[in-house]
Amino acid sequence: MAEENGRKVGAVLVVGGGVGGMQASLDLAESGYKVYLVESDPAIGGVMAQLDKTFPTNDCAMCTLAPRMVDCGGHLNIEKLTYSEIESVDGTAGRFTVRVRKKARFVDPNKCTGCAECVQHCLVRNRAYLERVETPELALLADELDGLRRIVEKYKGRKGAVVPVLQAAQELYNYLPETAVRYLSKELDIPLSLTYRLATFYNAFSLTPKGKHLLRVCMGTACYVKGGKRILRASQKHLNVDIGGVTADKEFGLETVNCLGCCGQSPVVTVDDDVFGYVRESRLPELIRSYR
Ligand code: FES
Repeated sequence: MAEENGRKVGAVLVVGGGVGGMQASLDLAESGYKVYLVESDPAIGGVMAQLDKTFPTNDCAMCTLAPRMVDCGGHLNIEKLTYSEIESVDGTAGRFTVRVRKKARFVDPNKCTGCAECVQHCLVRNRAYLERVETPELALLADELDGLRRIVEKYKGRKGAVVPVLQAAQELYNYLPETAVRYLSKELDIPLSLTYRLATFYNAFSLTPKGKHLLRVCMGTACYVKGGKRILRASQKHLNVDIGGVTADKEFGLETVNCLGCCGQSPVVTVDDDVFGYVRESRLPELIRSYR
């Protein structure tokens, strides 16, 4: 870069699109130079975008970063070369030639709206889904198939209904068997990766068998203070099962929960959707028996 008759000529290359690189690019662009900003990641922002607060001022990282990102993004004098690497630098001070390699994105950046739809249909992530024809035949019993068919009929063609589909299957089996998940994915054309992602993310879903009834003991502060731990121990002993486990006869699963919103009645337990307050250890056997 140089100055000719008071006019800035040439261009500047800034390496790294973090907060420092962006600020340098903005300063140079504002002073009249053409700036090439090279960033190896798919977007500018750098590590600061992952931070909440910054030391020592405790400033909000995003509040510092966002205005610079917006300014950089829209500045006519800054050409952003994201997802790019520098291959070689030749020449001497004042006249460098830089070779930059732009990595393939496999999306058209002019058409990309950042909707992330492509993530759902990624050919690499969804390999299991794409190869489903090679998976072993689904071993489903006739009555199971009936239930699943009803779910398929109800949700066929409805976009964004993955969670209700999984809820319906969970209701049917009380957990999500692999065969059922694969069947629903195939019939409703939902990527298997998406069903598994949701099934493992939400607490309401389980990929392992649950008991016919679920006993949950509240271990929130109020219940804990009022003897929640004792109730939990008594439940474990009476059902002969650990937390998260299922009884041998598959009748009861045991879990803990942190506050059910009725702390005034602590200690609290629930069996399925029924809530029981002021629970005493001595009442537990009778309570459990009433659900068997
Ligand atoms: S702590 Fe148990 S209901 Fe709130």
